[in-house]
Amino acid sequence: MTKVLEDFDLTSYNTFHVPVRAEYFSSFGSMDDLLELSSHFGNHQKLIIGGGSNLLFTKDVGGLVLQNKIRGIEIISEDENFVFVNAGAGVVWHELVLFAVNHQWGGIENLSLIPGFVGAAPIQNIGAYGVELCNVFEELEAFHLKDREIHKIKKDDCEFGYRKSVFKNKSKGQYAILNITLRLNKKPVFNIGYGAIQKQLEQMNTGELSVKAISDAVIQIRQSKLPDPAVIGNAGSFFKNPIIDFESFQEVKKIFPEMPSYPAGEKIKVPAAWLIEQCGFKGIRVGNTGCYKNQPLVLVNYGNATGSEIFEFSERIIQTVREKFQITLEREVNIF
Ligand code: EPU
Repeated sequence: MTKVLEDFDLTSYNTFHVPVRAEYFSSFGSMDDLLELSSHFGNHQKLIIGGGSNLLFTKDVGGLVLQNKIRGIEIISEDENFVFVNAGAGVVWHELVLFAVNHQWGGIENLSLIPGFVGAAPIQNIGAYGVELCNVFEELEAFHLKDREIHKIKKDDCEFGYRKSVFKNKSKGQYAILNITLRLNKKPVFNIGYGAIQKQLEQMNTGELSVKAISDAVIQIRQSKLPDPAVIGNAGSFFKNPIIDFESFQEVKKIFPEMPSYPAGEKIKVPAAWLIEQCGFKGIRVGNTGCYKNQPLVLVNYGNATGSEIFEFSERIIQTVREKFQITLEREVNIF
């Protein structure tokens, strides 16, 4: 059977680098491995992880932690306009982006350099610089851990929203995602509406717009704004940008007329980074944790933070923002 380790150190399996242990740990590179592990550990709690880049462990994890290592990128069909690409859930997300960029297929270039594995992309409905995974997503295959069956789940059944999906809500913890299929565009439609991309492209002076130029621009922006988890522990944006109704926004805007905002359907999205900065948290350090200097939405581990220390700090931010603005921040990162 696939090797199972006991009392396993998860420090290098979460990008916050918090030192917690798993009661049992293993990984699976195929459906057969997963079937075998799930039948041996039938009664145990199971947590499937990918790159560990969107979670915060606040305590040791009971049961079996399984890292998804299902690899492979495959073209499954194509026509004059589109190519359907299937990728294993254990592929590093940015490798899939580079695969698309190298073929000059459009759709995920704005999502360059997002940390983590392919399997986590639909759970979060990852997004950046004006694009979300759901814009190119077709379907996925997932193993239902209790029923022990493979389910094919189409886009509409994923219930995608801003940083959310059915896998973070009513199907939470029920599935191991096996692979996803994306529809990429052979005749790319460039999405450079996000101001920072335009500025970066101008600076880079790349000439003709291309999938590669946009990807390069996004990589540069991310590298300049966001901390590299390999250097300083973090999980990207810790909170979601809050979406509030128009009436509440008008009330709060009377007191804080300079508050930035973006339309979100009938509602209004307010940048959490701005709210947090206004509360004086940008760049501050508290013990071993703090808010990153260039982007306060990103909480960091300066070296020896525990998960509960980071969690407590996030509680403090939520409370302070609520007291000042009457807006409640929601965590984007999954807490265990
Ligand atoms: N802002 C500040 N102070 C700062 C930084 C930003 O006030 O120090 C305000 C400004 O008003 C700025 C606005 O926040 O215009 C937006 O900032 P930014 O463009 O950096 O994006 P974000 O809304 O903070 C979101 C995603 C990021 C994604 C970027 C780019 C969420 C929770 N985060 O951040 O995603 O890379 O947009 O599209 O939606 C992630 O999910 O882990 C992540 C990094």
